[in-house]
Amino acid sequence: MNSPSIDTTSIRNQFPSLERKHNNLPMVYMDGPAGTQVPQSVIDSITHYYKNSNANSHGTFITTNETDQVIHHMRVCMAALLGAESEDCISIGQNMTSLNFSLSRAISRVLKAGDEVLITQLDHEANRGPWLTLREVGVRVREANLLPNGQLDYDDFAKKMNENTRLVCMGMSANSIGTVNNFKLIRELTYRYNAWLLLDAVHYAPHFSINVAAIGCDFLLCSAYKFYGPHVGILYSKPGLLDRLPTDRLRTAGQVAPESIETGTLNHAAIAGVSAAVEFIAGVGSGNTRREKLVDAYHKISAHEYLLASKLYAGLRKIPGVTVIGQDFATTNRTPTLSFTLEGKTPTQVCEQLASKNICAWDGHFYAIHAIEVLGLLEKGGVTRLGISVYNSLEEVDFVLAEIEKIAR
Ligand SMILES: Cc1ncc(COP(=O)(O)O)c(C=O)c1O
Repeated sequence: MNSPSIDTTSIRNQFPSLERKHNNLPMVYMDGPAGTQVPQSVIDSITHYYKNSNANSHGTFITTNETDQVIHHMRVCMAALLGAESEDCISIGQNMTSLNFSLSRAISRVLKAGDEVLITQLDHEANRGPWLTLREVGVRVREANLLPNGQLDYDDFAKKMNENTRLVCMGMSANSIGTVNNFKLIRELTYRYNAWLLLDAVHYAPHFSINVAAIGCDFLLCSAYKFYGPHVGILYSKPGLLDRLPTDRLRTAGQVAPESIETGTLNHAAIAGVSAAVEFIAGVGSGNTRREKLVDAYHKISAHEYLLASKLYAGLRKIPGVTVIGQDFATTNRTPTLSFTLEGKTPTQVCEQLASKNICAWDGHFYAIHAIEVLGLLEKGGVTRLGISVYNSLEEVDFVLAEIEKIAR
């Protein structure tokens, strides 16, 4: 059955991995928050690069010229996806974590002892660990608290900011429990203290459209493998900002954005795949420009995902022994990522039983270990996480709910 916003059948037909059978049963991918499946166009784009244009960059011959174009085109596509001012705002890395570590090293060189950086208890470690290392150079790293309801404590945020705050690092949404954070409110606070705002959009970018220029964030990071692309990390930095930061660089590299934070040879084939992933998303929408198509596509994708996740949420709440963690799905804006516990079973046991039916779901803390700890769930093995992606169907939601009911019996 198709959902009203998108043609699920046509979307699903584009993902070859959905055709896979294991033990004669179809695969049900609810592991999107850990990495989505990729459409054929992404696979084709990677293959095309290796067949035709495989070379290093910045040379004189055809394949190196094409490689330069592949990299440039990806920056153009990502600038459209993020609403960035230009492609020069888009830097490329191995993954979000490595880029954030590189950025934290550069920023540590411009901060001084007594400066403050604010992180959150809700964030993935990739947006905590790199900033905690700044303590080594005398920077005070503080954390905004997470409330038991799964929301960040915005009063605590305000209390922990002052004229020494140089940088606030927060997620746009939580990969562990799906909370969407009020980053607009925090932007206002950072303006008050003239602090930079860094957003982790890794879990947000697959589900909602982003407009970095409108948000006014200074840095934003995301990962293409969470939005139907290959394993590549992306950093947006505000025009003129990265050029001023002393990044780790070889003598041969200039201090000019976007390359100044990119070290060594990039994964060119995967970069070709990122552009195809952006075009795949744009293909779900309509409009005159790539940006318009992307914005429209995200409306459709989030409507589809909301429909499925609402059904999943309502169904889970009816199963005896199930507790859905975090905010009420019906009344708050959340990502379609639902984490729950089941009385009498560990999350690993639940996931093992789901895996026996080819349902791909994750258990544990998903590197948001501090959030799961603060919520008192770490010693219980964390949570079971089900994530809805564009290719999931209502039938799959029914199937997953029926299997969880059986596990709960
Ligand atoms: C919210 C969030 N931030 C950061 C990361 C780290 O991303 P990467 O694997 O690209 O380093 C993840 C990965 O799961 C994530 O979900």
